Amino acid sequence: MIEQLEELRARALEELGRIEDLARIEEWRVSYLGKKSELNQILRGLGTLAPSDRRAVGQIANDVKSVLEGESTARRVQIEKMLRQAEIARERVDVTLPGRPTRLGQWHPLTAVTREIVSAFRAMGYDIVEGPEVEWETYNFELLNIPAEHPARDVWDTFYVQAPDGLPGGKMLLRTHTSPMQVRVMQNRKPPLRVVVPGRAYRYEATDATHESEFYQIEGLAVDEHLTFADLKGTLTAFAHAIFGPERRTRFRVDFFPFVEPGAEMAIDCHVCRGAGCRLCKNSGWIEIMGAGMVHPRVLEGVGYDSSQYSGFAFGMGPERVAMLKYGIDDIRLFKTNDLRFLRQFAL
Ligand code: DAH
Repeated sequence: MIEQLEELRARALEELGRIEDLARIEEWRVSYLGKKSELNQILRGLGTLAPSDRRAVGQIANDVKSVLEGESTARRVQIEKMLRQAEIARERVDVTLPGRPTRLGQWHPLTAVTREIVSAFRAMGYDIVEGPEVEWETYNFELLNIPAEHPARDVWDTFYVQAPDGLPGGKMLLRTHTSPMQVRVMQNRKPPLRVVVPGRAYRYEATDATHESEFYQIEGLAVDEHLTFADLKGTLTAFAHAIFGPERRTRFRVDFFPFVEPGAEMAIDCHVCRGAGCRLCKNSGWIEIMGAGMVHPRVLEGVGYDSSQYSGFAFGMGPERVAMLKYGIDDIRLFKTNDLRFLRQFAL
């Protein structure tokens, strides 16, 4: 029986040494230390032995039991440690791998150009204001000296919208230009004032390479005592230098806009051919970039300013056109198609 115990111990330990997972350890425990195990049967049968054998066999059997218990616990701890290490190895992060590049966003070219234009004016002391795209007809037309029957209204093909019931303001429309903000600003401020107004405008027009029915404008207005056309020219020339280069020359020619008198159209000498004539300037050497003029006395009086005390100048330009000229873009529709191949060229 002592031999049997020794053989049992050797077998159990040998088997234990080969076990590599926790479930098998449990099975091992049941078969070698469980109720129905050989060892337990020996222990339970001790009472049937002669008293002289009982002591010796009992001691050895109990030794075997405690060795097996101790060894199986040790093996379990060892296996748990191996499993943890394997898991850590599996989850290890290779910190030497290069990172995945993240692409930074960038301004839309129109946003970038608008910011550039606006900051050229900010440097000259202008405030930036914005106004409603859905506008009263009176602000868009009447208060800008464009009465209902005036033929000049035909220049602005207008989207009218249904005004909400119960509002007293007359007809509503999508503003056809940012000029109505001239009136709103003058109604809310006293001279001296200088503002630029970037924003959207809308016209009921067919779309082509140079026209969109939804587009941007940047309006400008300065009102003070003693402002003259010389101030207008100086300011807009400084703007042209900031945006198109300090060597630009400017040209002002008479033009008509109902809300200014005199009215002008401003051009810069072509920055591609420097005035010699090329495709961009259609061989004229000049590129028209905005409308401008001295604020009409009727517009000043319309907001309650004394036109004998105050004078002002105003201007309006299209940032799409400025961007197209600056970057040689030949179709205005590219700004709105969201083609990333186009947009990514302007990491400005
Ligand atoms: N509002 C005009 C347009 O949309 C542009 C313009 C011309 C604005 C002359 C002005 C100005 O302020 O003085 O065609």
